[in-house]
Amino acid sequence: MRPQACKKAQQDRLEIVNYLELDHREEMMRLVEQGLRAENKWLHCKYLYDQRGSELFDQICRAPEYYPTRTEKALLERHAREIMDFFALNGGDLVEMGSGSNHKIRRLLDQFSPRAGASLRYVPFDISQSALEEAARELLDIYPGLEVMGIVGDYTRHLDALPPGRKLVVFLGSTLGNFGEAQGLKLLKGVAEALNPRDRFVLGLDMVKPVEVLEAAYNDAQGVTASFIKNILAHLNRELGADFPLEHFEHHAFFNPARECMEMHLRARRDLRCRVADLELELSLDRGETIHVEIARKFTPQGAREMFRQAGLRPTRWFSDQRGWFSLVELAKAG
Ligand code: AVJ
Repeated sequence: MRPQACKKAQQDRLEIVNYLELDHREEMMRLVEQGLRAENKWLHCKYLYDQRGSELFDQICRAPEYYPTRTEKALLERHAREIMDFFALNGGDLVEMGSGSNHKIRRLLDQFSPRAGASLRYVPFDISQSALEEAARELLDIYPGLEVMGIVGDYTRHLDALPPGRKLVVFLGSTLGNFGEAQGLKLLKGVAEALNPRDRFVLGLDMVKPVEVLEAAYNDAQGVTASFIKNILAHLNRELGADFPLEHFEHHAFFNPARECMEMHLRARRDLRCRVADLELELSLDRGETIHVEIARKFTPQGAREMFRQAGLRPTRWFSDQRGWFSLVELAKAG
């Protein structure tokens, strides 16, 4: 039992549960080996986000060409009140998948105006315990009434960790676009399963738009995106004792109209032999050969509707900017 107090200390408002298995490194070794031995080489995009990678991603979000963050933020600002109305009467949990930094969630938290003592708990769900804790402490400082329950886990595996009660789940940034069609659908089905009939799910989706706009967003003039994608090699060099020479790779990002996605590759500028010491793996790359690092799918309204239908979700409200570049879709469990 907690001691009674008017104002709870930070410690008493923060709880963190860790669902990650300890075989993080084993998984990394398995996935990297699989990708680098493949006929068409690939690396899993989650390894873009070491500390440096997260910093570079924050920088991308400020690049003038990278419209998604800005567009989504404006949408959040415009519709935060309507979205947060969910909590006004009954309170509940605000769950954020892939919480990362706090800029976006604050737009929502600022609009929480409880009636009759409804209380809100923030539930960030993220793979990085340190990032989650740091962000949570900042929020506890800003919002003295807020309770936080952090879930450290992988939301492709641990969605059953979501709290069972009344909740609004948000998944922003069009991160869904980093998953292929089948995996993305599986993730959405998982969310649908975790929802009660009255719960809501707000999903950020980046939409198909003129190819020049898309390609510029992933080829910013300052080269921040290039550094971000190349950093995955620096991460492997450090973590797995690899010796990828970053200077001999170039960033290659283009829109694939058939798959409706941006594809990010690293291309060898010349013939290369590389070694990943911890995997006892030698590999050679021919000049011009690429390692596929990331996809960022872009959605059409029709395509998204069909995807929701297959996942067992039904749109309740659809917010979009005037140009239709980005969508915030509020969904409920279908049926
Ligand atoms: C983190 C998925 C939103 O796909 O636009 C940005 C990642 N990669 N530039 C995106 C990213 C290159 C980003 N998301």
